[in-house]
Amino acid sequence: MNVGVVGLGYVGLPLAVAFAEAGDAVIGLDLDPIKVSAVAAGESYIEDVPSERLRAVLARIRTTYRYADLAKADAVIICVPTPLNENREPDLGPLDEAAKSLAQVVQPGQLIVLESTSYPGTTRERLLPLLESTGLRVGPDINLAFSPERVDPGRTDYTLRSTPKVIGAITPACLDRADELYSRICDHTVRVSTPEAAELTKLLENIFRSVNIALVNELAILAERMNIDIWEVIDAASTKPYGFMRFEPGPGMGGHCLPVDPFYLTWRARQFHMSTEFIELAGKINQYMPYHCVDRVQAALNDAAKPINGSHILILGASYKGGVGDTRESPALRIIEVLTRRGAIVNYHDDYVGPPPPPPKTTGPPPTTPTPPTLELQSVPLDQALPNADIVVLVTAHPNIDYTSLATQSTLFVDLRGITRGLHVENLETESAGAA
Ligand SMILES: NC(=O)c1ccc[n+]([C@@H]2O[C@H](COP(=O)([O-])OP(=O)(O)OC[C@H]3O[C@@H](n4cnc5c(N)ncnc54)[C@H](O)[C@@H]3O)[C@@H](O)[C@H]2O)c1
Repeated sequence: MNVGVVGLGYVGLPLAVAFAEAGDAVIGLDLDPIKVSAVAAGESYIEDVPSERLRAVLARIRTTYRYADLAKADAVIICVPTPLNENREPDLGPLDEAAKSLAQVVQPGQLIVLESTSYPGTTRERLLPLLESTGLRVGPDINLAFSPERVDPGRTDYTLRSTPKVIGAITPACLDRADELYSRICDHTVRVSTPEAAELTKLLENIFRSVNIALVNELAILAERMNIDIWEVIDAASTKPYGFMRFEPGPGMGGHCLPVDPFYLTWRARQFHMSTEFIELAGKINQYMPYHCVDRVQAALNDAAKPINGSHILILGASYKGGVGDTRESPALRIIEVLTRRGAIVNYHDDYVGPPPPPPKTTGPPPTTPTPPTLELQSVPLDQALPNADIVVLVTAHPNIDYTSLATQSTLFVDLRGITRGLHVENLETESAGAA
């Protein structure tokens, strides 16, 4: 098969490699020349795809930024970003852009699949009309489906192959073709009756996580005030063999998905005269968490008779989750920003996060996302930063780092992830000891 992948990011690149590994010829398209040249050179920028894995199948991956090259594909999968605009409403600019470009080259017999997360109705009401503007009809001429990406970056126990793939399509024939496509790279497919059901499935999964994380974050703040160790409580509750699922408190949510996707549904719900209270409340609590963490740092410094202003603060982990270098929406950025505004001299250490990325390449109108805090600092080596730090704050825990040892070496240590729980040293500010 010839498979086209539009958008070679966190979702698109692993997909391209998976199809190439299945023996298919892949046309990988991106508008970012840096990504196109990196993939062409066999250099992966996604942790889940080691460069060696990419190089092993490079002969079957052709990179391009010309949509005309997709005319040869049997199937084209769209994996472009779906961010929010400054009003926290869906920004379908990249998707519209990709769909319009694709419409100019789409061929009879092609299968088009959308993988970008969006509100129910996007495939049928947004993508379909753009594709049909060519005169081709979905059903008789081309096939169209939606299949959400579900892989958890950095995770190794569940992969693209072993994670069941949900698919919803416009017609039964579209569904058969999409099922056939994904069966080449996934062990299990889950067919649902419509693209809308598949679109809402993805949102349900993310909203479920967002709401539960918010719940445990709120309880963590309360437990702090009540001087109860939230980790002890979570560990104990997790022993219940049914009816409880473990979620852990932290500095807030990050990444492209959880802080963004639920608001696609909030926006859509308004068109149905409904307000999605759980989503809004979870968003509010999770967005507050970085500020709460700054308060914890301030309280710990205060106990040592130090102000934030002028203190040297070392942040451990700048990406939004352990084992990945993705800093999009990372709560660490907000924490760094607020501490810096309050006069702290902030450094971070994160081997996964490289130098600040170049501004993203966009097509069409200028980016409409609110100005998220960007990382203007560079990761500093631990041996340089640790001795000078008045306080060390563990924001994101990466694998294979001995945080217990770092905690004992630090002047003051605030652990926002509960990694050092159980450790009893004087310089450690634990969850339950936070001041009200
Ligand atoms: N990152 C994840 O873990 C994850 C998980 C599930 C779903 N998703 C969803 O998948 C979609 C893609 O996310 P991502 O994390 O891969 O984003 P990303 O930013 O890593 O990659 C998207 C790529 O699309 C390219 N692009 C933008 N406009 C384009 C256009 N018009 N034509 C061609 N390429 C274009 C960008 O240059 C970029 O390389 C989003 O809807 C996201 O919500 C992401």
